[in-house]
Amino acid sequence: MKKGIKIVTIGGGSSYTPELIEGFIKRYDELPIRELWLVDVDEGKEKLEIVGSLAKRMVEKAGLPIEIHLTLDRRKALEGADFVTTQFRVGLLDARMKDERIPLKYGVIGQETNGPGGLFKGLRTIPVILDIVKDIEELCPNAWLVNFTNPAGMVTEAILRYSNHKKVVGLCNVPIGIKMRIADGLGVDASRVQVNFAGLNHMVFGLDVFLDGESILDKVIEDMANPDSSMSMSNIKAIAWDPDFLRGLGAIPCPYHRYYYKTSDMLEEELRAAETEGTRAEVVRSLEKDLFKLYKDPNLTIKPPQLEKRGGAYYSDAACSLISSIYNDKRDIQTVNTLNNGAIASIADDSAVEVNCVITKDGPKPISVGDLPVTVRGLVQQIKSFERVAAEAAVTGDYNTALVAMTINPLVPSDTIAKKILNEMLEAHKEYLPQFFNSVEV
Ligand code: G6P
Repeated sequence: MKKGIKIVTIGGGSSYTPELIEGFIKRYDELPIRELWLVDVDEGKEKLEIVGSLAKRMVEKAGLPIEIHLTLDRRKALEGADFVTTQFRVGLLDARMKDERIPLKYGVIGQETNGPGGLFKGLRTIPVILDIVKDIEELCPNAWLVNFTNPAGMVTEAILRYSNHKKVVGLCNVPIGIKMRIADGLGVDASRVQVNFAGLNHMVFGLDVFLDGESILDKVIEDMANPDSSMSMSNIKAIAWDPDFLRGLGAIPCPYHRYYYKTSDMLEEELRAAETEGTRAEVVRSLEKDLFKLYKDPNLTIKPPQLEKRGGAYYSDAACSLISSIYNDKRDIQTVNTLNNGAIASIADDSAVEVNCVITKDGPKPISVGDLPVTVRGLVQQIKSFERVAAEAAVTGDYNTALVAMTINPLVPSDTIAKKILNEMLEAHKEYLPQFFNSVEV
């Protein structure tokens, strides 16, 4: 008989790790973890030690027999794992800052997961995750990989398309965040609310909303249309939606849709922020500094509330519920990134989508939504093309493919600007993009 679960978290030195620990502690009865391995790279060693010590104190305070291991040796950690979670940032926050600042010079949105920034985060991340997946196939082939590393949709797409490991789920807190905010707005417990989500990561729509089984979509749209109740998340400025636009759209957009539907307002806001408090990476750098100062305190034994200033609210709930539902074959409904398999008619069966799924011991089973409404279908398809071409560029290191990915992204206005941004960003991120520099002259 199995003695308990072994979980490995790659990017374990992340400031988000206490979220995860809190979630595991809360669910220990249903998810008896025996070992949690926090893995990081050399540059993350100090953070790993600080956050790892806090994790140990949290577990000890809870009186639970979870062993916490800290290591820089990924292969050693992966041996015999049941679940692997990934939450790393190739190039750390410096790379994110470049992703956010360089496009702004050309009048284009600079964002962690959208537009040129999302493309470059994908180009840096995909080869690394595919390497991790190779280790998983060799050292723990039965393990489920739960990926939070952004851009989570593109990363899930790349793993499904370019590896043989099919036990992968991409996870994001956007759907659960929307659901919680709707429940808060209605003043009801979230368990009474169901949202039919469909689309892609950071491109997901609520196609219908139910309270106790009855559709309340129109009411929620009216609530969102009220400029005072504009829903967002801490990392995205809650610029109010146009009420008539929302009514016409007939679906609930996610906070990231502001970059597409309110591009000029968001650009103006980003340019303002870049000149004043800094881009989000710079704000996060300072938040992280404060967080790690708190984490170092030997008397701290809980997740500090200051972590809520990051964009990852409910992230531990999403992650730990998913792992528990797979482990316990719960067959509840959660929104995750998985193989489409016909769930969304207008997206290829073999692509990754973000959609409501029944979570079983054999993984997520997507619930069919038929086709997307014509109001949102085109943009979703366009982003899917972008993700697929971007994933191909990440794997091949082909310049022309990367240029096509950049140009077909709806936030980039022309091939001329795409090329300028591409060239500058390739140079800026050279160190993390070896696949482009063995064969390409820029
Ligand atoms: C949300 C998104 C995540 C993203 C995060 C950024 O949670 O769903 O994908 O990583 O925001 O938050 P940050 O505090 O790093 O800006």
